[in-house]
Amino acid sequence: MVQTDNQISDFLNQQITQAVVSLRSGNVIAFPTETVYGLGADISQHPAIQKIFDIKGRPASHPLIVHFASLSELEFWAENIPETAWILAQHFWPGPLTLILPKSSNIPLSVTGGQETVGLRIPRHPIALKLLEQLGNHKAVAAPSANRFGFVSPTIADHVRNAFGDKIKVILDGGPCEIGLESTIVSCIDKDVTILRPGGISILSIENILQQKVSIKSQSKIRTSGSLTSHYATATPLEICQTSESLFSRSFELLQQKVHIGVIICSTHLIPLLNSNDKLHYFLMPNDPVAFGRSLYATLRKLDDMNFERILIEAPPDNLEWLAVTDRLNRASHSFHK
Ligand code: TXA
Ligand code: MG
Repeated sequence: MVQTDNQISDFLNQQITQAVVSLRSGNVIAFPTETVYGLGADISQHPAIQKIFDIKGRPASHPLIVHFASLSELEFWAENIPETAWILAQHFWPGPLTLILPKSSNIPLSVTGGQETVGLRIPRHPIALKLLEQLGNHKAVAAPSANRFGFVSPTIADHVRNAFGDKIKVILDGGPCEIGLESTIVSCIDKDVTILRPGGISILSIENILQQKVSIKSQSKIRTSGSLTSHYATATPLEICQTSESLFSRSFELLQQKVHIGVIICSTHLIPLLNSNDKLHYFLMPNDPVAFGRSLYATLRKLDDMNFERILIEAPPDNLEWLAVTDRLNRASHSFHK
């Protein structure tokens, strides 16, 4: 269930207060956002930022997204903000949108991986917002997804616990994330508006609000860890089958080799063809990009835990609505195609 502000229990409110104390003491905490869970640290505390990189196993050159609470502070964190960025911020914040802008001097270079630009986002999850509000004015939290570098992002608190054990003392549990895929990253550095990572907000709605076409750049020259070719990876090799026919024939081929496979499908017509047996288990996903995105990471983790030798997945439709899902699947499957 998606949490709203008046559903934050007394217990969670106390935990948020504890999380704020922990952030102020220079610790890394985990918290839910509407996209995925994040590992948070106060950006003004250099050692805390270092801890994020250490805990995640992420190279220090990969920039972190800075989360803050109020649009009125955008000019505190960024400079030379173009009109397009204001329009996007006003329309989509709080929400699953990250804007890349020239950074102000209030953003330490350790957060941006040494770059003069910064990724900024006001999340809309009530727990995240409350945490940021309580931290106070002119304070912000750097938060990458709470997974080890290169692996699938967490969409429930247990994913974070399982990955980091007691390395993270405070994990705020907001239940399953509403969106389940990371934020859409939009670069507003030049006059052009460029999508660096498709995500929680569709490209079409961005174009609608701006009344202009935007370009999509998945392999940016700017360092974005999510744009490394192998990312969001499952431990089990994952293979995308472009059509339901190729999925069926590939399943058959692997079964003949006695390979134990997990098969993810959207097309119900495949169900009678893929009767589950001791070498094949199929999982039906919703045939809708939003609902598919919401359960994708949890499904990939579940299949990983079931110790299949191979995961096969039916490719989603090739259109803009499915772009964020297709992007993550392509990255997750890369290690197999190498
Ligand atoms: O939905 C999200 O964005 C989640 C939640 C926790 O907010 N966060 C997230 O953070 O996905 P992370 O670190 O896993 O991915 C952030 C992406 C990385 O690909 C990073 O390289 C890119 O944002 N990024 C951050 N600052 C950037 C910058 N200045 N220029 C270009 N890319 C940047
Ligand atoms: Mg990440």
